Amino acid sequence: MKILVTGGAGFIGSHTTVELLNSNYEIVMIDNFSNSNKEVLNKIKIITQKDFVFYEGDVQDNILLEKIFSEHNIDVVIHFAGYKAVGESVKQPLKYYENNLYSTIELCQMMEKYKVKKLVFSSSATVYGQPDKLPIKEDSKLMTTNPYGTTKLMIENILKDLAVSDETWSIAILRYFNPIGAHESGLIGENPKDIPNNLMPYIMKVATKELDNLNIFGNDYNTHDGTGVRDYIHVVDLAKGHLKACEKVLKSNGIDAYNLGTGTGYSVLDLVNTFMKVNQVNIPYKIIDRRPGDIASCYADNSYAKEKLNFEATKTIEDMCRDAFNFIKNS
Ligand code: WQD
Repeated sequence: MKILVTGGAGFIGSHTTVELLNSNYEIVMIDNFSNSNKEVLNKIKIITQKDFVFYEGDVQDNILLEKIFSEHNIDVVIHFAGYKAVGESVKQPLKYYENNLYSTIELCQMMEKYKVKKLVFSSSATVYGQPDKLPIKEDSKLMTTNPYGTTKLMIENILKDLAVSDETWSIAILRYFNPIGAHESGLIGENPKDIPNNLMPYIMKVATKELDNLNIFGNDYNTHDGTGVRDYIHVVDLAKGHLKACEKVLKSNGIDAYNLGTGTGYSVLDLVNTFMKVNQVNIPYKIIDRRPGDIASCYADNSYAKEKLNFEATKTIEDMCRDAFNFIKNS
């Protein structure tokens, strides 16, 4: 079985590629290194002791896509490539709409041309916006509060229309909650190039003293300790969820969406305190104002992925904190 992984050098793409190689899939990867670096490719080979085909380039480049699909019989495409910084998307919406939408449309058109109709799409819990009920189920209301989230929702709708137009498509939409952690080897993980937006990468930079202290955005939410609650899922569990989604699209047709989360919510202070305890490090923090657009609580009802994909996350919040610190210490 040959899988095309777009954005495979990224945080989730690289961890998924490791799990795919370990499960004896053949991998073809495309990445333009806009939010990742070349060294990751070699780290994947070291971890798995396996090789794979790599093309450097942009998924919007249909000459490159034509080359890839003409040189390889692709069975399934896993589409990670896309911009994903919420704050940046608010400042530069056109950059996000152009990149995320055009790359997906170019990719699907090339898949159609080569009769490759099996797709796993990297979506996000951000399509739920401000949930009116918790835990969040896949049939919850979909609404977005930033251009990044809107690109994910628009792509989900494009894929739904595609599946209605041609029932030979087999598409799994994966809605990630909050992926954190790193591979146990410490060789790959999340290491954003500039000041992190997300909580765990920020904690990691404070842990290594690259940043002085963490700013906690508000402690006046209606949660058990006033700080924001999220469903953190270990990136290796998330990667394994993609293998289950591949198996699903290989044996069925149609389109469906699945929450990939643990079903348990932890607050910012829960995560900070766990990180300090597990790693025996101090994370100085200050409570400041809420971040505009943040919601109080968000965590998954993960029963549908359990039922339909036979997927369940197994790693604990302690595993996530330990593996994240192990990675940043090795970086
Ligand atoms: C988590 C909690 C913050 C940073 C985002 C995207 C979502 C997905 C995951 C792509 C919140 C608090 C954070 C900090 C803090 N990405 N926080 N200080 O906002 O839940 O989701 O990343 O798909 O689309 O929206 O994740 O890690 O930014 O925030 O207090 O320096 O940590 O207020 O409660 P979020 P996050």
